[in-house]
Amino acid sequence: MKVLANDGISQTGIKHLEAEGFEVLTTTVAQEQLSNFINEHKITALLVRSATEVRKKLIDTCPSLKLIGRGGVGMDNIDVDYAKSKDIHVINTPAASSESVAELVFAHLYGGVRFLYDSNRNMPLEGDSKFKQLKKAYANGSELRGKTIGIIGFGRIGQATAKIALGIGMKVIFTDHQIEEHLISLSFYDGQKIEFQLQKSSFDELITNSDFISIHVPAQKNYVLDKDDFGKMKNGVGIINAARGGTIDEVALIDALENGKVSFAGLDVFESEPNPEIKILMHPQISLTPHIGAATSEAQDRIGIELANQIIALLQ
Ligand SMILES: NC(=O)c1ccc[n+]([C@@H]2O[C@H](COP(=O)([O-])OP(=O)(O)OC[C@H]3O[C@@H](n4cnc5c(N)ncnc54)[C@H](O)[C@@H]3O)[C@@H](O)[C@H]2O)c1
Repeated sequence: MKVLANDGISQTGIKHLEAEGFEVLTTTVAQEQLSNFINEHKITALLVRSATEVRKKLIDTCPSLKLIGRGGVGMDNIDVDYAKSKDIHVINTPAASSESVAELVFAHLYGGVRFLYDSNRNMPLEGDSKFKQLKKAYANGSELRGKTIGIIGFGRIGQATAKIALGIGMKVIFTDHQIEEHLISLSFYDGQKIEFQLQKSSFDELITNSDFISIHVPAQKNYVLDKDDFGKMKNGVGIINAARGGTIDEVALIDALENGKVSFAGLDVFESEPNPEIKILMHPQISLTPHIGAATSEAQDRIGIELANQIIALLQ
């Protein structure tokens, strides 16, 4: 059986599949040629990440397809219900990238409290001529230890973020539509474990009491943080969004940065992705990454293995 990994798959995933007799093709076929390619090569399983679209028309024109796999969480690019109605398996790997996204949150947070987002822009330009001025400009850093992080959306990634936060001595509060309380278990390298029983806070309690706020909800119809919400936050709060574009009102965020309510933001996702607003890209108090939360070799390995195991179980 042939598997087309159109947006790529890790070597570990390929090896797993090949060991069970699958042939894995890693050609990146353009969207408009995909149907022809799948039919010509009699592809049984199509694996995608977020780039390739798997819509009704493609499903209708490719009768050989028995499985569609998404390496990652969101299935916005796949007509899931339609595929299932045609008896095609649709699978994803929801848990594989949680730790990687949580670590990126802390990359933005640690960078934020020490102004790295700005220092990295200005040192190459003025580091040799204005060293002392830059040293002064970035002198008032702060520590994360002892501060409160508010996590909105306490699913897999929210919980992984909480683990890091607790590990470095932060207080964690969370809010979630479904989760009232949760036991977080921190495991250390030598086998020791510590447990924290966390209770949900109300949304208002969270936004008024947090020194840093990190969003971990799925794509939403409405903003999770809008103009009114920014008004209620602590002065100097740091905001991180590594969830989905459109969960923060970016215009309200820029206003809150300009009037000093928010001290910095770390954004991995954008309202107008893949063409983020220039005002966001150019803002000196925003730490920016191009939607790379899950893009670590460890996460990609776990994604590849998780996909391979599911394909083997379902198709063999
Ligand atoms: N940056 C990246 O590269 C990257 C990678 C993977 C996932 N993500 C995104 O991270 C987000 C979270 O993923 P996850 O695996 O933790 O999902 P999850 O389903 O495990 O958790 C989401 C939680 O959010 C809660 N929730 C939903 N709407 C809410 C709201 N308005 N207010 C409060 N809570 C709400 C749900 O009850 C759920 O507990 C998703 O948007 C996902 O697309 C981003």
